[in-house]
Amino acid sequence: MNTIEKALQKSGRNPWSAAQPAERGSLECGPGAKPGKVAPSLASSAMREGSEVHVLDVERMQAQGLLTPEDTRSALAEEFRMIKRPIINNAFGARPDLIRSGNLVMMTSALPGEGKSFCTINLALSITHEVNRTVLLVDADVARPAIPGYLGIQADIGLLDVLGDEDIDLADVIIRTDIPNLSIVTAGTTRGRSTELLASEAMAQLTTEMAQRYPDRIVLFDSPPLLATSEASALAAHMGQIIFVVEAERVPQDAVRRALEQLKSCDVVLTLLNKARHVPGIDYGYGYGYGNNKS
Ligand SMILES: Nc1ncnc2c1ncn2[C@@H]1O[C@H](COP(=O)(O)OP(=O)(O)OP(=O)(O)O)[C@@H](O)[C@H]1O
Ligand SMILES: [Mg+2]
Repeated sequence: MNTIEKALQKSGRNPWSAAQPAERGSLECGPGAKPGKVAPSLASSAMREGSEVHVLDVERMQAQGLLTPEDTRSALAEEFRMIKRPIINNAFGARPDLIRSGNLVMMTSALPGEGKSFCTINLALSITHEVNRTVLLVDADVARPAIPGYLGIQADIGLLDVLGDEDIDLADVIIRTDIPNLSIVTAGTTRGRSTELLASEAMAQLTTEMAQRYPDRIVLFDSPPLLATSEASALAAHMGQIIFVVEAERVPQDAVRRALEQLKSCDVVLTLLNKARHVPGIDYGYGYGYGNNKS
């Protein structure tokens, strides 16, 4: 049993055995898949919902090792195809009433740099290939927003502005993209009291609106690391599903255990083992587990 499995077991979550077979997946990323750094210059200005469509910077996405809109056949595409399935089933399955706001999904981790933003974007792109599903990708890492840099977009207002200014609505900050079923909300203007805003009644109302306005929509939140800020656990309280990313062979067992403690009140927590080395012949790649606090 590896470090992560031990920590998850200690905290009452087993990343593998809790999963139903159909709800597991595994991911592998080949050597050299690690994305390179990209110059910080940003592409065109953001386009708002109802206005012009923003064209995603596919070259930039490719350079960073991300999935691209046309990529449906690569190993990475296949991996995220398996990752998305239990999330979609939880959100829209035969008994959606079992999971409250199951279409609100947050990606988090214990420590910085474990791959939250990378996995959030890939998951969003993978879900856009589903028939009759739309994705709203929300950059809720308000202190260190990464989505604009990954996708080459820029926006002056976003999530924090909706929460902090009653004259700004959700519709005002939704950016449409050239993928018809993908829209984006950026983090918005940094404010000192961002944790309080994310924990506020305004956030509760906003997430309810996000969850209910379009019943076919999955809202995916990229978030900060649990042990580095208080914002992630404030956000988690509003979510129907949490995906807990664990970077293989780096994160101490105690960090995983302490981070999972913060998610105790969340009904559904899925674990995703990221950046695992792939040894040929051994199924040891990217792992994905499933835990349901309700069970
Ligand atoms: N599966 C993967 N394969 C290759 N590279 C990856 C993978 N996951 C993440 N990376 C790379 O690791 C680095 C950190 O990833 P990312 O920005 O997603 O981390 P993060 O958890 O969002 O960090 P932060 O806590 O700072 O927000 C990036 O360079 C990213 O491209
Ligand atoms: Mg990030």
